Amino acid sequence: MRVTKTLTIIKPDDWHLHLRDGAMLEGVIGHSSRHFARAIIMPNLVPPVVTTSDAAAYRDRILAAKPKADFFKPLMTLYLTEQSDPNDIASGFENGLVSAVKLYPAGATTNSASGVKDFDKVMPVLQKMAEIGMPLCVHGEVTDASIDIFDREAVFIERVLDPLRKRVPDLRIIMEHVTTKNGVDYVTSSDKNLAATITTHHLIINRNAILAGGIRPHYYCLPVAKREEHRLALRAAATSGDKRFFIGTDSAPHIDDSKEHSCGCAGIYTSINTMSCLAHVFEQENALDKLEAFTSLNGPAYYNMPHNDDTITLIRHDEPITFPDKIDTGAGPVTVFDPMFPLHWEVQ
Ligand code: NCD
Ligand code: ZN
Repeated sequence: MRVTKTLTIIKPDDWHLHLRDGAMLEGVIGHSSRHFARAIIMPNLVPPVVTTSDAAAYRDRILAAKPKADFFKPLMTLYLTEQSDPNDIASGFENGLVSAVKLYPAGATTNSASGVKDFDKVMPVLQKMAEIGMPLCVHGEVTDASIDIFDREAVFIERVLDPLRKRVPDLRIIMEHVTTKNGVDYVTSSDKNLAATITTHHLIINRNAILAGGIRPHYYCLPVAKREEHRLALRAAATSGDKRFFIGTDSAPHIDDSKEHSCGCAGIYTSINTMSCLAHVFEQENALDKLEAFTSLNGPAYYNMPHNDDTITLIRHDEPITFPDKIDTGAGPVTVFDPMFPLHWEVQ
């Protein structure tokens, strides 16, 4: 195979990742630890990771499942509930065990039943976090059944996020997996304490991938992919170099039986081919020089962490490289995200 191009960048981090637990964790962790040095670990297990002692136990299970040869630091998050204890959360942050708190509006997505309904109840936690500089990761969708699912992010910004930022202006917020031009515009128009993660798949698919020519459950995730104009806004933001945007894959494995179902689960599995997909997207946008900012620099800067010391090298092959259609996990097969174009970039 003739190699035409290489690109060396500081080792990436994944600022939004679902690793699950047990056999699924063991089946997927190696794909993240191979390319990413650190990842913000989502707490939506059943039951959720709520307290610092839940987080310590989960971190230990992740470290035990990780391939021994890989350096990988799980950055733990706590699931915000109306009963969360501000002192427990603060102590977890201050001793370095916990990196952020995750806000799911109750019922917004997979395993979010314990999420927040009444924001007054979580004000003491949010105020404490603002005081100590602890970031809040937000799943930005309203859950009001009367709001069209394609509008839930835009309505969330208006009804929940903007009022929340006015109420606790010193709180550092990450709008997770932003999927709309509205979200991008809201982030770029804010002067401080707001950033956003963007997933791999939302840079690649629009809602046609899910719905046109047949219903394709492996492209269904939450927030659901939107119209093409939104995908284009996300690509412009990701490839701009703007420090407020960084990768959060939201790689969210579900076994095929739960996806290929009359009521299939939301979630797309991208850990294994994310770096190849991203290099492709950035090359298409003539922005390979901005890839490192998006995957390796902007995230740590916003989280007030140093960037990694290691590097990875991506190689562009003339011939397409292949990934498995599915990975086998002890929990069952998981379909890998298919970007619907040939991939040429490979992590060395
Ligand atoms: C996530 C999951 O499966 O845990 N699913 C998804 O579609 N992204 C939950 C989430 O992050 O919303
Ligand atoms: Zn997620």
